[in-house]
Amino acid sequence: MGTALITGASSGIGAAFAEVLAQRGMNVVLVARSEDRLQQLADTLESKHGIRADVIVQDLTKPEAAAAVFETVKSLGVEIDLLINNAGFGDYGAFCDRPRQKQLDMIQLNIGALVDLTHHFLPQMQQRKSGSILNIASIAGFQPMPYLSIYAATKAFVLSFSEALWAENQDKGVHVMAVCPGPTESSFFEAADFPQTLASGGQSLVPAPVVVQEALQALEQKQSNVVTGGIGNQIMVNASRFLPRPTLVNGIAKLFRPKATSNP
Ligand SMILES: NC(=O)c1ccc[n+]([C@@H]2O[C@H](COP(=O)([O-])OP(=O)(O)OC[C@H]3O[C@@H](n4cnc5c(N)ncnc54)[C@H](OP(=O)(O)O)[C@@H]3O)[C@@H](O)[C@H]2O)c1
Repeated sequence: MGTALITGASSGIGAAFAEVLAQRGMNVVLVARSEDRLQQLADTLESKHGIRADVIVQDLTKPEAAAAVFETVKSLGVEIDLLINNAGFGDYGAFCDRPRQKQLDMIQLNIGALVDLTHHFLPQMQQRKSGSILNIASIAGFQPMPYLSIYAATKAFVLSFSEALWAENQDKGVHVMAVCPGPTESSFFEAADFPQTLASGGQSLVPAPVVVQEALQALEQKQSNVVTGGIGNQIMVNASRFLPRPTLVNGIAKLFRPKATSNP
């Protein structure tokens, strides 16, 4: 069944990918910063599913992180058949009110590490004429999002980059796909300092394993992207096709404007 490398595997969607893939008999390499959580998950997956689970503790905002992950994978003697660039975070609030370093780290993690890991692992897949890369974008990537401005822009990058690589690699035996979840149960909203009331827009959050099942089904169908989580998310990502962009962006600004700075 091969080996999957999953970044951001210590919680949420990444941990759910690890669980579902291990259940299907895949070996996994789990990457994130939280060593204890990764090791606990690896031990559980090995004993529950009889697969091999390796742990790489790495802060992916560090410039040399992708190269370090690549070298560690080589030293483990495993070949990566499925790369899941999942690690990422958001940050809620007006651009100038939010910490500059957190914003720069977000760009480095959500974009920089994802591109660099792809650069390291894609050539091997092309040589073998097999392999897949799943990049976790978001429905936030389909339109600008005031008060999540950097986050939405990073996910627009991930979506655009992944679809371009999907087309470039179609005749090379490698499948690249963008996964675009809507609001999903995870630690995301806490990490983003996101108000509970805005988290799901009034709907219930989708369980992470549902996102994973839909993503893996789309992978089998060789889609270039998949919007997971139901009809509400489909409507959201298509809104920019029917509404003038200023109307759409103003509507989102109204919805997401922090209470303290809202206009009377
Ligand atoms: N939840 C949603 O509603 C939603 C919707 C659309 C898209 N997404 C995307 O889904 C992906 C997974 O997020 P999630 O919802 O599962 O959130 P989560 O539970 O907060 O998981 C984020 C993962 O990223 C890892 N991570 C964070 N900073 C890192 C760093 N500097 N270096 C290495 N790993 C780091 C975290 O592990 P450590 O803290 O241990 O490093 C954790 O495993 C993200 O790309 C997110 O943007 C989420």
